[in-house]
Amino acid sequence: MATSRDNLTPDRLSTVVKISRQFLRSVRIDTDIGREDALDGYICQGTARGLLDSMANQVRETRQRAFTWTGPYGGGKSSLALMLCSLVGGNPVLREKARRILALPESSAIDAAFETSDSGWLVVPVVGRRARVGDEIGKSLATALGAKGSKKGRKRQVDIIGELVATAEQHPNGVLLVIDELGKFLENTALEGDDVYFFQELAEAASRTAGKLIVVGILHQAFDAYAARLGRQARDDWAKVQGRYVDIPLVAGTDEVVELIGRAIEVDANVDHAPAAPAAKPVPVHAADAQGERPHPPATGRADRPRSGVDDQSG
Ligand SMILES: Nc1ncnc2c1ncn2[C@@H]1O[C@H](COP(=O)(O)OP(=O)(O)OP(=O)(O)O)[C@@H](O)[C@H]1O
Ligand SMILES: [Mg+2]
Repeated sequence: MATSRDNLTPDRLSTVVKISRQFLRSVRIDTDIGREDALDGYICQGTARGLLDSMANQVRETRQRAFTWTGPYGGGKSSLALMLCSLVGGNPVLREKARRILALPESSAIDAAFETSDSGWLVVPVVGRRARVGDEIGKSLATALGAKGSKKGRKRQVDIIGELVATAEQHPNGVLLVIDELGKFLENTALEGDDVYFFQELAEAASRTAGKLIVVGILHQAFDAYAARLGRQARDDWAKVQGRYVDIPLVAGTDEVVELIGRAIEVDANVDHAPAAPAAKPVPVHAADAQGERPHPPATGRADRPRSGVDDQSG
């Protein structure tokens, strides 16, 4: 019977395996939020759960309300942020789905940190780009509030923080501001000579709102690395600003990476995986002929003893 292998010349790995769609694109929290299918296929691993628990415990036990998550490219930062946004946001169907995927027990630390009445938290997702961070937060806040037409006009950055605080204080639960690709805003701040103290004021304002404004910034490297071009003094200042945020690394363990790679690879079930028939009749090789070609075995004292199944096969 002909198999699909017969049509494959030359026989390539890419014809047999493919990468699951889930893993082919980066997650964008601003456009993926609210989409139920965007949560499909997420695998909650120990490192990610540990990050959420650690953040939740700090929210419960301290006044700290500003966090950064730092991790390598493609490490699942945005996916996890999307899970958190769905878990606490305003859509009960998404809340339930995220809860199931994260396998949260009843009354977990996350539940205690993000007490959620029916309306859920107001989630403000922002994705970094080369622009003023305050403007982008202002636009996302307006979108989250359903305010149309109020996006125009350049507000002072400090007014944006004031708006966030006022919204959080009036909200029955609170406001979760997630700034993904925060590094892009930091690059822009360095490039345009903008004030990095915006980020300090944001963190301090969050700490003053009695738990109702929580800020999460997502990064690839520490703040001061983005100020490399600005010189020593600026780097020190930027490092101090980051000190207002508690940084939680998101770096998957080797076993977790292996598990994700295993889930990412899909094997075509229609392809015959039996080893290909040998192309030509094997030529018998006599050990005596090969002896001259083979490097001398190490001097273990057993060199003259043939290894069974290898040297013995000379026939
Ligand atoms: N735990 C996971 N379960 C399922 N898929 C995952 C998981 N972590 C990452 N992925 C997949 O890997 C890809 C990269 O994930 P994601 O975009 O969240 O990473 P990132 O850390 O935000 O990347 P970047 O640094 O490029 O912003 C996506 O396709 C995502 O669906
Ligand atoms: Mg990302």
